[in-house]
Amino acid sequence: MIEFQAVRKQYDNGTVAVHELSLSVETGTITVLVGPSGCGKTTLMRMVNRMIEPSSGTVLVGGTDVRERDPAHLRRGIGYVIQQAGLFPHRNVLDNVATVPLLHGRSRQEARRRAGELLELVGLPRELGKRYPAQLSGGQQQRVGVARALAADPPVLLMDEPFSAVDPVVREGLQDELLRLQDELDKTVLFVTHDIDEAIKLGEKVAVLRQGGHLAQYAAPDDLLAEPADDFVTAFVGRDRGYRRLSFVESDRVRPEPVDTVELGTQVATELHWRLALDGDGRPRGWLPPEAAVDGALTEDQLAAGGSLYTEHAPLRGALDAALSAPSERGVVVDADGRYVGVISAEHVLDVIQRHRRKVGQGLP
Ligand SMILES: Nc1ncnc2c1ncn2[C@@H]1O[C@H](COP(=O)(O)OP(=O)(O)OP(=O)(O)O)[C@@H](O)[C@H]1O
Ligand SMILES: [Mg+2]
Repeated sequence: MIEFQAVRKQYDNGTVAVHELSLSVETGTITVLVGPSGCGKTTLMRMVNRMIEPSSGTVLVGGTDVRERDPAHLRRGIGYVIQQAGLFPHRNVLDNVATVPLLHGRSRQEARRRAGELLELVGLPRELGKRYPAQLSGGQQQRVGVARALAADPPVLLMDEPFSAVDPVVREGLQDELLRLQDELDKTVLFVTHDIDEAIKLGEKVAVLRQGGHLAQYAAPDDLLAEPADDFVTAFVGRDRGYRRLSFVESDRVRPEPVDTVELGTQVATELHWRLALDGDGRPRGWLPPEAAVDGALTEDQLAAGGSLYTEHAPLRGALDAALSAPSERGVVVDADGRYVGVISAEHVLDVIQRHRRKVGQGLP
């Protein structure tokens, strides 16, 4: 259904986000792209609906080169779900979902009726339709995002870290819901995540990407676990095998290190490395990218968002998640009050797990 043929993307600033990558996504399956922050997942996904054009190579959808398709027309057949749902804040939930059928020329009444059905389909009571997005929980907003993406009944769904902003319990519920929906609807889903657990649970096929947009391995989850192609994949999925027990590993063994910080509202000079921005209370607000030139006082919109925070002494799983989701590849550790303590790399967390395994011997997978 979707085919990437030697696709490459180099941005104007020289960054190679995707390096000659070939991959085919089978019709009616959930295929997951997984890998650390910045490895090119979003770039690859957005080439499917022409939000990004490849520098070279070809993307086929349903056997047709997407360059031959009118972008607006192409997108009508491709639902798109993003983190934080991307809902229109000033429209109520029902109208958010009804937008798509309206665009397709349905009457207002018909579009609303369809929107009501879709809300039920994703497990939301119809009464929620009258609320505004800000009046919903994060998990409910994501469901509305999924309902809206399904509104045109597109054969293809692109989902870019749709569940990563919600807490782990809600996230599991949403994953189960997606699997149930998929059973019923049989879409071709391309799903992006940095969470290997989520990839293994949802994917019929999983593509592991590494920095620079290289495809490290493309396989069914079982094969990925049984025969990781190289050290990178081993480390990445090894994480999953030990994962279920991570909560038993003493997280006190994690040793946060200092990193350069800058304070919001102050003047900062340009530097060649990532710096962590803190507010006046010492709480992390985001990362200032290398070479960022700040004119005047540092404000939040100059920061790279993303990266979950790891609270000291919490289960190790969160530490790994923080490291893998951060644009700087450093997970931010905070104390119980949410104040900056230090940073950790994924390698360090994996190291802690390894040492623990050796200590307890056969007890761990
Ligand atoms: N418009 C752009 N101009 C220049 N570089 C970009 C642009 N968009 C992305 N990049 C860079 O391309 C690389 C891949 O980015 P991409 O957003 O595809 O990564 P990702 O795997 O989705 O990461 P994340 O998990 O953080 O969402 C990164 O190094 C990023 O900084
Ligand atoms: Mg992304």
